[in-house]
Amino acid sequence: MHTYKLVQGLAGLGLISVCQAKWWESPFRMFQTNLRTIDIDMDVNATADYILQHGAGAWLQSIGGIIANYPTELEFQMRNPYLDQRPSGDLVQDTMDAAQAREIRLLGRMDFSKVHRDIGERHPEWLYVSPNQTWQNHTGNLLSVCPSGDYYQERIFDILEEVISWYPDLAGFFVNWAGFNENDYFRNYWGVCHCSSCQRRWRDHAGDVELPDGPWNSTYAEWKLFSDGIINEWTVQVRDFIAEHLPEAGLILGTGADITFHESNNALGRDMWHHATSETVSRFKSQKPTTPVLVNAASFLDHAYRINGEETNNFVQYHLQAISRGANPSTYIIGYPGRIPWPGLEEAAEIMRFHKQWQEVYTGLRPIAKTGLVLPRSAQRENSTEYEQSLNEYQGIYKTLQETHIPFDVIAQQNIGTTELERYEVIILPDLGQLLPEDAQDLDDWVEAGGRLVVTGEIGVDDDGTPQLQSLPAERRLEFHNDPRDLWSTYIAPQQNRTEEDDSTSYLYRKLGFAPFAPPEFIFGNRQIDDEPGAGVNTYGSGKAALIPFPVGRSYREVGLSIFRDFLNLVLDEVVAQEPVEVSIAEQVEVTLNVNRNNETVIHLVNMSGQRRMNFGAYLPIPAGSIRVLRGTEGVTARSLRGNMTLDVEDGVIKLPGLDLFDVIVITGLEQVDQN
Ligand SMILES: *[C@@H]1O[C@H](CO)[C@@H](O)[C@H](O)[C@H]1NC(C)=O
Ligand SMILES: *[C@@H]1O[C@H](CO)[C@@H](O)[C@H](O)[C@H]1NC(C)=O
Ligand SMILES: *[C@@H]1O[C@H](CO)[C@@H](O)[C@H](O)[C@H]1NC(C)=O
Ligand SMILES: *[C@@H]1O[C@H](CO)[C@@H](O)[C@H](O)[C@H]1NC(C)=O
Ligand SMILES: *[C@@H]1O[C@H](CO)[C@@H](O)[C@H](O)[C@H]1NC(C)=O
Ligand SMILES: *[C@@H]1O[C@H](CO)[C@@H](O)[C@H](O)[C@H]1NC(C)=O
Ligand SMILES: *[C@@H]1O[C@H](CO)[C@@H](O)[C@H](O)[C@H]1NC(C)=O
Ligand SMILES: *[C@@H]1O[C@H](CO)[C@@H](O)[C@H](O)[C@H]1NC(C)=O
Ligand SMILES: *[C@@H]1O[C@H](CO)[C@@H](O)[C@H](O)[C@H]1NC(C)=O
Repeated sequence: MHTYKLVQGLAGLGLISVCQAKWWESPFRMFQTNLRTIDIDMDVNATADYILQHGAGAWLQSIGGIIANYPTELEFQMRNPYLDQRPSGDLVQDTMDAAQAREIRLLGRMDFSKVHRDIGERHPEWLYVSPNQTWQNHTGNLLSVCPSGDYYQERIFDILEEVISWYPDLAGFFVNWAGFNENDYFRNYWGVCHCSSCQRRWRDHAGDVELPDGPWNSTYAEWKLFSDGIINEWTVQVRDFIAEHLPEAGLILGTGADITFHESNNALGRDMWHHATSETVSRFKSQKPTTPVLVNAASFLDHAYRINGEETNNFVQYHLQAISRGANPSTYIIGYPGRIPWPGLEEAAEIMRFHKQWQEVYTGLRPIAKTGLVLPRSAQRENSTEYEQSLNEYQGIYKTLQETHIPFDVIAQQNIGTTELERYEVIILPDLGQLLPEDAQDLDDWVEAGGRLVVTGEIGVDDDGTPQLQSLPAERRLEFHNDPRDLWSTYIAPQQNRTEEDDSTSYLYRKLGFAPFAPPEFIFGNRQIDDEPGAGVNTYGSGKAALIPFPVGRSYREVGLSIFRDFLNLVLDEVVAQEPVEVSIAEQVEVTLNVNRNNETVIHLVNMSGQRRMNFGAYLPIPAGSIRVLRGTEGVTARSLRGNMTLDVEDGVIKLPGLDLFDVIVITGLEQVDQN
């Protein structure tokens, strides 16, 4: 972050640039005490001591919004009814004193999503209104507020102003649940807000088009963009307000904040994706490599079971995956330490302390993987089945890359236009179907300039079947099969009879035509079809584009046959990215590749061997592996941070120690080809 100051120098007026680093630009660790009203009796000194020994240097404390833990004078905040139980009458000041005595940075958690019914009845124009004209009520006699109304747009700045003027040493803010309240805590769907502010803003935005009620209306996708826009705009306003009034304080929130926020949690009734934290941090970092990310790891199950501790092995994965992609870890509990017995806090603390101990290694960490895997965007798909198929395809490819240790970043589909594509040598599009025309153009341009694209599954085509991506090795889509029965007894196999190929395109495997599959006496006769390849690779400009015309990742994920993984790797071999190292280790390990401020290559090895249906259980020890240095082997040194020891480098091969839960290998002397 650069700020510029005009200074009057002896020789006249000069403009100098002052490099004023903000605290959140260095790696940090946070602990959140998410307080219930009854936690007003918190022993701030004991908690502060706990936070320090946990390895954290930042403390996120509940301050205001729905419930103020300080003697607010504003009529639209409710004071914690137990506040008088504290001798000082002010939990926030007590917390600040305890934090300052230990040089802990104190951040304030605010929640503007709801107000007490008394306040809501005085200001009905602030409230969320369902399509059925009802308010949204919650436990504690609370009503939901709408982000487009005056409470969010104006009154919260009064609250922030009061908090900032009373506690000017706050180091930052986090705002909880800043959204449009379509769902309540019971997961009831209430629909799109129809309050008067929303009606007015929507008219300005969409003219005569009626405000949708929910996803079943065709204008809903547009409303999503509209409402996201309101939140993003509001986030920037809050950020600017804080920057103006408290320049040393940062805002933790979504797009537009100083620190991008992600909460890692687990919930009943939701499928587990074991790489969720790693994936999310990666998609933030691939778009904005220098914007800090905070991963708040919930030590409890989501919503309805918030007093139930998370499984320890699962909990530590949140922290590990976060730091492996360059995010700042945060431990998040309900209440204060010692109030509810959370398992896994000591294991989490070990990772926090590790991150602190190696602060220097984590400074300026940014991804350098040369392969980008695009994460499908739901709004880009016609219906949810198609989206889920793309997501499955993506997850199967994610697994393939992870298990075969091809370092990669995740690029969110909606960020294709704002991501620096030049940093990548290979980009994979998993069954995305129709792309935005501008994205297709950007990708074709990138291929022409030397990029190597791999497209799987469904492709976008024009009315006459011409592929949207001109770089693909295909002129026209002749057929599209979506009914599984159409593909029963279809195989692809290595080509048996060589045929002439034109120079710019090569084909891998050939389809075998249909043959009976029952009864067993008659299951033979599948013949190679010469002009139906399993994949094609085309040269386009200085680059290449490969097409695998079936969902190879989904096949791997759903059937589990590694032949699909192998086939994808066969195609990837044709377009392979030039990485500085090659890691050989058990496939249960996830490898991430970053570089830090000191130009050290930082490789995280995370043992993911304990995956179970809903979480991680006990992990298995992993036998020693190795890393082969592929670039500039002269003067290369390597060390393991977990063991704090130097590793032998022999003939360009680094021998790794056996892996327990994780390790971080730091290599110096590797040529960094692309520094950006
Ligand atoms: C915290 O400890 C300090 C120093 O011992 C003490 O002065 C202060 O009163 C304590 N705070 C509270 C709220 O007990
Ligand atoms: C919300 O209000 C409805 C209608 O009065 C009531 O049945 C329901 O229990 C309330 N919900 C909560 C969470 O208080
Ligand atoms: C509105 O009320 C109707 C009738 O009670 C109900 O079926 C519908 O789900 C409600 N709509 C929303 C968006 O809550
Ligand atoms: C949304 O869908 C509902 C149910 O089909 C319909 O009654 C309503 O008129 C639709 N609203 C808009 C704005 O299309
Ligand atoms: C959604 O897409 C799938 C796959 O293309 C298709 O089979 C299904 O009919 C579609 N459903 C709807 C409601 O359009
Ligand atoms: C290879 O080509 C020959 C001659 O065209 C043909 O008879 C044979 O069936 C082909 N083999 C396969 C596996 O398709
Ligand atoms: C890192 O490498 C770049 C490019 O080679 C070089 O300009 C820079 O000085 C190096 N930084 C450090 C800290 O070694
Ligand atoms: C993974 O963790 C298990 C369980 O601790 C451990 O036994 C195994 O050695 C680890 N494997 C690796 C590669 O770290
Ligand atoms: C690692 O080992 C070196 C040398 O033995 C020691 O000086 C250093 O303090 C250790 N670092 C950490 C973070 O333990």
